[in-house]
Amino acid sequence: MLVLPKGVRHMPGYLSHAAQKEIVEAIRNVVRAAPLYTPAMPKSGKEMSVRMTNCGSLGWVTDKERGYRYQSTHPVNGEPWPPIPDLLLSLWREVSGYPHPPEACLVNFYSEMARMGLHQDRDEADLQAPVVSISLGDACLFRVGQTFRDGPTVSFRLESGDVVVLGGAGRLCFHGVDRIYPATSVLLPKGGRINLTLRRVTSPS
Ligand code: SIN
Ligand code: FE2
Repeated sequence: MLVLPKGVRHMPGYLSHAAQKEIVEAIRNVVRAAPLYTPAMPKSGKEMSVRMTNCGSLGWVTDKERGYRYQSTHPVNGEPWPPIPDLLLSLWREVSGYPHPPEACLVNFYSEMARMGLHQDRDEADLQAPVVSISLGDACLFRVGQTFRDGPTVSFRLESGDVVVLGGAGRLCFHGVDRIYPATSVLLPKGGRINLTLRRVTSPS
């Protein structure tokens, strides 16, 4: 048995196939209003291999000039982000153990070759709330480490319908995606992987 860092919870197969299909449909509508775009790293301007968008009152964005941040509008079309679909708000209520709703849902789309380097989610003012992550479509190799850089890491597969919660002592654990396993799911007709992360950004007053 794999031992995950304290506060990191992996719930394999949490979402039924029907629920996954409903979420994909809702995300298709989000992407129609807020198209996927290619984000760039702060300073270097190096493009990330994932494509991103958001829903919620705030969205996480990054670009060469202004770096990592949350903002209320899409960086390409300037429109407010569409709302977080109800299904995802219910999922947050079920698994977050946090009494306030999420404000941001980052949508990451991974093609076969995309990956994401080890990083912490630390641009949120409220670190009491967990980050809730949902995997849809092709499987990936997920890696999670400690709350400090270069600590030991564990790797495991995330399949479509899995939910991961990074909360409490695990809220700031480093994590990333080493690779996608192409053609391991039929959920998305053209393949690839969608990851959704629900986040509380501001501290409730
Ligand atoms: C992320 O850390 O934003 C994405 C994690 C994942 O794709 O599973
Ligand atoms: Fe992350």
